Amino acid sequence: MEKKSHFIKREFLQREVPLVLLGLLLVTVLLLNGLLYLYLNNFYGSSGRADTDPSLCPFGYFKLGTAKNCSPWLSCEAINKEVRKLKCVGEGAVKKVFLSEWKENKVVLSQLTNSELQEDFLHGLKMLKALQSKHVVRLLGYCEKQFTILTEYHPLGSLRGLNETLHMPKYKGLNTWHRRFTLAIDYVSIIRFLHSSPLGTLVMCDSNDLDKVLSQYLLTSDFRILVNDLDALPLVNRSAGVLVKCGHRELQGEFVAPEQRWPHGEEVPFDDDLMPPYDEKTDIWKIPDVSNFFLGHVEGSDIVRLHLFDIHAACKKKDPAERPSAQEVLDTYRKVLTLLIREAAMPGTREML
Ligand SMILES: Nc1ncnc2c1ncn2[C@@H]1O[C@H](COP(=O)(O)OP(=O)(O)OP(=O)(O)O)[C@@H](O)[C@H]1O
Ligand SMILES: *[C@@H]1O[C@H](CO)[C@@H](O)[C@H](O)[C@H]1NC(C)=O
Ligand SMILES: *[C@@H]1O[C@H](CO)[C@@H](O)[C@H](O)[C@H]1NC(C)=O
Repeated sequence: MEKKSHFIKREFLQREVPLVLLGLLLVTVLLLNGLLYLYLNNFYGSSGRADTDPSLCPFGYFKLGTAKNCSPWLSCEAINKEVRKLKCVGEGAVKKVFLSEWKENKVVLSQLTNSELQEDFLHGLKMLKALQSKHVVRLLGYCEKQFTILTEYHPLGSLRGLNETLHMPKYKGLNTWHRRFTLAIDYVSIIRFLHSSPLGTLVMCDSNDLDKVLSQYLLTSDFRILVNDLDALPLVNRSAGVLVKCGHRELQGEFVAPEQRWPHGEEVPFDDDLMPPYDEKTDIWKIPDVSNFFLGHVEGSDIVRLHLFDIHAACKKKDPAERPSAQEVLDTYRKVLTLLIREAAMPGTREML
């Protein structure tokens, strides 16, 4: 009798426990899924909220590091008195860039090098002032009459050094498809920001080859991307029929968009007056190449590439009007990231879903 009831109980347990466990497992999977959605939504934010940064100050002010209060942009006087140049850390066509010190902060003083490029310099400064946001390097001050700009210092420098940075022992752990894809998403977010900026649709013209593109952006110590060089950002105004040209010289090569190349064949010599203008879709054409650089060759990057195949093919449409907007590319990138994270967190869900 006793033996029998014991037997029944065991049989019951043996059959029911796996069922209960299975139920619990299902509930857990569903809960995790929900949490992941919430987390990702929070983390990547909606497009409107993502551009406001709580550490930002009102126009004309800045805040550095852990400072509590916003300070006004430094004036010529303050820059001359309080900023000490330490060493040159970069030089482009327009500016020479010095690591400097201001009140025990590392800052960057950029100086015009070529007086013929005053206009570009001043345009860059105007843009830097107007576009201060979480996507743009922080402006700390400027002196127009001396052609100097003071910005925050980012020790990892421009994106040109990304490969080297990711191979340093300190950052090796960040050399994953996930980090690299997050950088690509950051980059597309910046293009989206420029294409729908407070000033209108701006085209990133300093972008005739990959190296040039990379040198316009900085890598922050927490591995985010900021746009730094805003010297060549012309405005497209579609309703007014205003298009742009990136410079007045002939552009060549596969990196620039087809509509940026001379359309009249080799027999006709290049003439800027005969060169048709174009719009911001040139930036979209370049996204797959820049993303490919970000993705690099680590475990998992080819799976990301596979998921981006269709959107990248759309970016490379010959007709600019057929290319997606930066917002559409961004939405697709974020969807792919969510999908891949979910798959990485719960291997096997691919078969279940
Ligand atoms: N805030 C910064 N922190 C660290 N490095 C910087 C910073 N600003 C600029 N640099 C370095 O200096 C280089 C040149 O800066 P920048 O692009 O502003 O000069 P430029 O003369 O306008 O260049 P271009 O030839 O592209 O017009 C950058 O590519 C970067 O390596
Ligand atoms: C675009 O052009 C229209 C018509 O000229 C003008 O009203 C509008 O302000 C312009 N937009 C921008 C962003 O300059
Ligand atoms: C970065 O590294 C990848 C290989 O991982 C290489 O294909 C690419 O050319 C490198 N880019 C630069 C700018 O050094």
